[in-house]
This record gives sequence, structure tokens and C-alpha cells, in this order.
Amino acid sequence: MADQHDRSRHGFGTRAIHAASVPGRVEQIPTAVPIYQSATFSSEDAAELGDILGDRKPGYAYSRIDNPTAAQMAAAIASLEGAEDGFALGSGMAAIHAAVASLVGAGDRIVCTNTVYGSTRTLFARVLSRFGVETVFVDPTDTDAVGAALAEGARVLYLETISNPTIVVGDLPALIELAHRHGAVVVVDNTFASPYLCRPIELGADLVVESATKWLGGHSDVVAGAVVGSRERIAEVRALQVDIGAIVAPFSAFLVLRGMETLHVRMDRHSETALALARYLEVQEGVKRVFYPGLPSHPQALVAQRLLRAGGGMLAFDLGDRRAASAFLDGLSIPVRTASLGAVQTICVHPPSTTHRQFDDAELIEAGIPPGLVRVSVGLEDAEDLIADLGTGLAAARAAVPAHTS
Ligand SMILES: Cc1ncc(COP(=O)(O)O)c(C=O)c1O
Repeated sequence: MADQHDRSRHGFGTRAIHAASVPGRVEQIPTAVPIYQSATFSSEDAAELGDILGDRKPGYAYSRIDNPTAAQMAAAIASLEGAEDGFALGSGMAAIHAAVASLVGAGDRIVCTNTVYGSTRTLFARVLSRFGVETVFVDPTDTDAVGAALAEGARVLYLETISNPTIVVGDLPALIELAHRHGAVVVVDNTFASPYLCRPIELGADLVVESATKWLGGHSDVVAGAVVGSRERIAEVRALQVDIGAIVAPFSAFLVLRGMETLHVRMDRHSETALALARYLEVQEGVKRVFYPGLPSHPQALVAQRLLRAGGGMLAFDLGDRRAASAFLDGLSIPVRTASLGAVQTICVHPPSTTHRQFDDAELIEAGIPPGLVRVSVGLEDAEDLIADLGTGLAAARAAVPAHTS
């Protein structure tokens, strides 16, 4: 075959296009995963293209179907989660949608934990419901209630390892066993824990979803997600995504991979600092309750000890009143006031007015989210600086609502 790269006999325009777009071959293996910023991949011949698109030959053809950087992100997350296979998506919500939509159809029921991320609740209760999928929300710590809901027939049991925002730690092995006994498929959102603290697949979960935007990426610079599970289940997710197209961009996949390399080091430090902050908050005037899995006072402390390698970087506490929470947030100078989590910077948020704004008052009460709740994603700053800053915030809260603290 003639050398396809010898363009010297072609005109300027042809050479400009092909000289600039055909990469040279690199024999050595790069030490970082390259960003394959390419929509398409060319095949040797027409038959090969047909074979790749027809799944008869491994390879790449079109980045909505598969892209090497995205595939590497999916494989890396699957490896850390202890899963056979994975698929990378453009956000955590895209991953949740992909996982659940690969399982349910009109007439199916989802049993979902009542304290889930606000958009997850909306996706199930207000979007999937329009397609004939019903969701019932249950308290994951009430095994009888979960069992009763599953007994009415459910295709999916959906859980969060550590729930957003009230840091509930359900007994995953028991819940998974219960779901399987009732013939339900178990999908677990492992975002708050990350695979460093807990690997639900190893506990029997069928699919695990992650918002890679959080601890996996770790630096507040990328929005991405992934689903992992068995080869068969991921094939269903992949098939669905060919037609939905909620894929991750190659540069985003690169950033997630780059963040993942230090996940273990960061999570140890996030956990250590979070425990120090939780212990401090627990004895402060005006703090009604602290929710942190590493504290003996946590309602599921024993379950958390069994399931989690460490307490993690997420904690929440109740200031008893919306105005107190607001004054606390305004009194801070180190943490970032924003809606996300899982970053090198500490992030503080008032869930009822932000991440869980989709919940109406009744839903907030049902989910056990107090109006004065503050959620903290503990970063990598020095613990003593953070403690001093929390002290300033608490003083501001006490000044704003003096009666409340007396
Ligand atoms: C527990 C949990 N799951 C999923 C998501 C959605 O992730 P993303 O923002 O990447 O879509 C979030 C977002 O905050 C979350 O907290």
C-alpha cells in the first residue's frame, strides 16, 4: 500500500489539513494518559471500520461511542472500585441517569433512600416519573421499611454510601442482601465515600455511580462521572449512551485521571482534618448536633467503622435555624461558599437553600434535613486555621440569633 503519510505530491490545502491532523507514532509509553482530543479515529480500511462499529473488533471510531482518554478514566475508576468494567460520563448526574435508565422502563419501581442528593431526587421523582417509573423514598436505617417497600416490587434499590447531606451510613451489606432477596438490582452512589473509603461492588452492589467532579477529581476543576459494574451491566450502559451521548470530554477525563493519582493521600488527610473539626464543633455553643461518621456519637458509628476505612471529608452540623446558618457562612473567610464538595479547598454550604433546594419543606422534614444544617467538605488547609475560622463563623451565628443559643 502507498505510504498514506507521503503528501509531498499533493497541493498546499491537502497538505495543510493532513500534515496538521495526522499524529506521528510514539513507540514509548507516555507517563501521563494523552488527551485524545479527536472526534474520529480512522481505520485501515472499510472492513475494519465496520468491524469496530459492529463490536467485532476492539478499537475506536467515533468519540461519542468511545474515546481512549475516556476509556482510561473508566478503566481506572473500575479498577479502584473493584469492578470488572466501567463507563465514563460527562457528570455524576449523567452517570446516575445512565445507570438507572439502563435498568428501568415504564411500569418499574425504584426504592430510593430518602436522603439523597437533590438532583437525584428530582431525576427520579420528577423526570423518570414522566416516563412511567415510580420512586418510593425510604429511610435506609429502617430495614423493615426498606424491606416493605421492596416487597411491593422494585426493579432498583438506590442508595448513597454516605448520604448527602445528613451523612447517614446505611448498612450496605444488609440492604444489598435484602434487595437481592426481593429481586432488585442495587445501584450505589459512592461519591461521598470514594473507592478509597468503601467499595460497594465488593459488598455485592450491582452498579456503582460516582460523581468524579468530587473526591476523584479532587480539585474543583472538572465535572465528570462514571458507572462501574460487571461487564454485562456496563455493556447495557454503553449501548444506552451511544444513543443518549452524555459522554465525558477527553480533557475532563485527563483531569480526573490526574486527580485520582493522589486520591489515597488526599482522603487520609481530608479524614484526619474532618475528625478534628467534628470534635471541635461537637462541644461548641450553638451547635445542636454534628453528623460525622468518625464520631462515636454518629447514629451509625458501628456500621461506619465496619464499612469505611476512615470517616472521610464530609461532615454536617445543625445550627438550629436558617438565619444562624446564613450568618455562620457569611462569617467565614477560608472556606469557599459554593455548592460542590470533594476538593482541596474547604467548601461550606447550607443544603436547604442550595444543594437540596429541590426539596419542599415536607420533603426536607421527611429526609431529616434540619433548616439550620451546614454541610462542610473538608479541604487540605491547615486544621488549626480552619478551626479558628469555624470559631469566627460560630461567633457570627451567635451574634445573629442570640436567643437561639441561650
Ligand atoms: C452524592 C452526589 N451524587 C451525585 C452528584 C452529581 O454530580 P455532578 O455534579 O458531577 O453531576 C452530586 C453533586 O453534588 C452528589 O453530591
